[in-house]
Amino acid sequence: MQTPYYLIDKSRLMPNLEKIAWLREASGAKALLALKCFATWSVFDLMSEYMDGTTSSSLFEVRLGREKFPGETHAYAVAWADHEIDEALAHSDKIIFNTATQLTRFESHAAGHVRGLRVNPGVSTSTFDLADPARPFSRLGESDPKVIETVADRATGFMFHNNCENADFDRFDEMLGAIEDRFGPLIRRMDWISLGGGIQFTGEHYPLDRLAERLKRFAGENGVQVYIEPGEAAVTNSTTLEVTVLDTMHNGKDIAIVDSSIEAHMLDLLIYRETARIAPNAGPAEWLVCGKSCLAGDIFGEFRFPEPLRPGDRLSIEDAAGYTMVKKNWFNGVKMPAIAIRETDGTERLVRDFTYEDFAAALS
Ligand SMILES: Cc1ncc(COP(=O)(O)O)c(C=O)c1O
Repeated sequence: MQTPYYLIDKSRLMPNLEKIAWLREASGAKALLALKCFATWSVFDLMSEYMDGTTSSSLFEVRLGREKFPGETHAYAVAWADHEIDEALAHSDKIIFNTATQLTRFESHAAGHVRGLRVNPGVSTSTFDLADPARPFSRLGESDPKVIETVADRATGFMFHNNCENADFDRFDEMLGAIEDRFGPLIRRMDWISLGGGIQFTGEHYPLDRLAERLKRFAGENGVQVYIEPGEAAVTNSTTLEVTVLDTMHNGKDIAIVDSSIEAHMLDLLIYRETARIAPNAGPAEWLVCGKSCLAGDIFGEFRFPEPLRPGDRLSIEDAAGYTMVKKNWFNGVKMPAIAIRETDGTERLVRDFTYEDFAAALS
């Protein structure tokens, strides 16, 4: 298969999905895939066997969830436009407003629909302010119980999202306790509570049984149906970006240029100043692996190999599913990676390729 392409490996996706299914069973919580993280619908048939539906951040994601992922569809957006609201309602089972103002403003449109409100508890586990929903002056949800009180009769549920790449169960537990202390009386008036995403519960050493017990207790004590909205946890480690070395050079270090670009195909690494991962990353030869865009800092990272790299060598960049394929772009007109699936029997099939026509059609 011609590189570059994203390769989704179903046998690497399955362990995440099995943990989600176990958690649902043991806790009673429902699990919705957060499409903002991963929206590659060719594997939705498989994922929907293990999850309850999808949640969204825009009208188009709501519609994709409804059309491609069997199950429940939650519609959330930081703000709905007047021209979007009817379609968002038509494609969803629940709509979640970000502010009391929007909940009130769309009262007449949404009165017959299941409605929720995003609540911002003012604490999070994010260490990067760009991604911190509890950052000062945050616009992500209502935080004042007095304001929430004024619209609580119009909602049957709340959505909290304040975990970010949180692998620490005790921290999750502590923050949930703080949420109960601050918003407990309001929560107990609701029928359902979504606790958002950001919990790394499919990680190797995560105490899944403790999480299940905590979610079940939260649901029982507050009399609510709990939802979680995993994105990254559902797809972590399932996908690689397959690239080929096009050229090599030496400028103080050995440099390899590949047929992809971190800016165009793994943008979050650039935004969050992280390096890519290559496995096993071992051997005497140390190489800077760089993208082919004109951006000087288009660098995947510095990796070790058993032998010097040469044009034609194939490399696999790890963990290319979450917040990666959804952010790919046409910077420099670099060929957009195709999408391929490796079935559990090892066979690979191409599910999407991108052409010059797609590039031209993205602008006019
Ligand atoms: C409201 C909401 N739900 C779910 C998620 C998914 O989070 P993650 O991919 O970290 O699990 C996010 C991520 O930003 C979010 O904002």
